Amino acid sequence: MDIVIRPEEETDFIKVEELTREAFWNLYKPGCDEHYTAHKLRTSSDFIKNLDFVAENDGHIVGSIMYSKSYVENEEAQRIETATFGPLCVHPKYQRRGIGTMLIEHTKDIVIKNGYPAIIILGDPHNYCKHGFKTGKDLNISTMDGKYPSGLLVLELKKGVFNDHKWGFKVSDSYEVNMEEMELFDKKFPLKNKEYQYSQDLFSIMIRSYVE
Ligand SMILES: CC(C)(COP(=O)(O)OP(=O)(O)OC[C@H]1O[C@@H](n2cnc3c(N)ncnc32)[C@H](O)[C@@H]1OP(=O)(O)O)[C@@H](O)C(=O)NCCC(=O)NCCS
Repeated sequence: MDIVIRPEEETDFIKVEELTREAFWNLYKPGCDEHYTAHKLRTSSDFIKNLDFVAENDGHIVGSIMYSKSYVENEEAQRIETATFGPLCVHPKYQRRGIGTMLIEHTKDIVIKNGYPAIIILGDPHNYCKHGFKTGKDLNISTMDGKYPSGLLVLELKKGVFNDHKWGFKVSDSYEVNMEEMELFDKKFPLKNKEYQYSQDLFSIMIRSYVE
């Protein structure tokens, strides 16, 4: 299987949204929002254009990664700009073949070239610790309200950059979902059944779990 990682182009937008919808559908809730998030993110001022990539196999888009600007702020109100990826997805039929890893590794080098000292995400540790991500707790990076969610994960690219301070992490507002707009947007896509899957319970536990 030959996989090519290349920048997303305008003609890919709808295909990437369809892929994103396939990958996330019913995974974290009945239905999903992530295709709408991808759509909205591209026009946000926080969107990082040179970190928007697709994975292609035989001319078909099978994976996608997008990044946005985020930041951490310390107790002295000093800010450091960081990079956050999401949505990241691989078509269900192509998962567990290393494509997600390729998308992360390919873009990590560009994040470094862009000068960001860290990638900070909210995601499942199972997917990201193998790529070097650590819990925010170990680097003194919490949410803005001082909590350490299990899913707050940091890949430190400039060693020691967070030393000697406590930091609060702020993700871009462009991930906020207006449900009415989202439902309207979803009508552009083929009808799909919204159903329960046990992965929704795993997610529900994960997002209410914190590191002591
Ligand atoms: C999370 C996601 C992007 C990972 O993409 P992926 O292409 O499946 O990732 P990889 O193939 O690189 O790694 C996944 C697993 O496959 C394994 N793997 C990689 N290549 C493999 C191969 N050739 N044969 C067997 N297993 C392989 C990896 O070791 C890893 O195993 P692990 O989960 O036990 O650690 C993908 O599962 C996805 O789109 N999920 C739905 C959307 C989502 O949840 N996105 C993330 C939001 S936090």
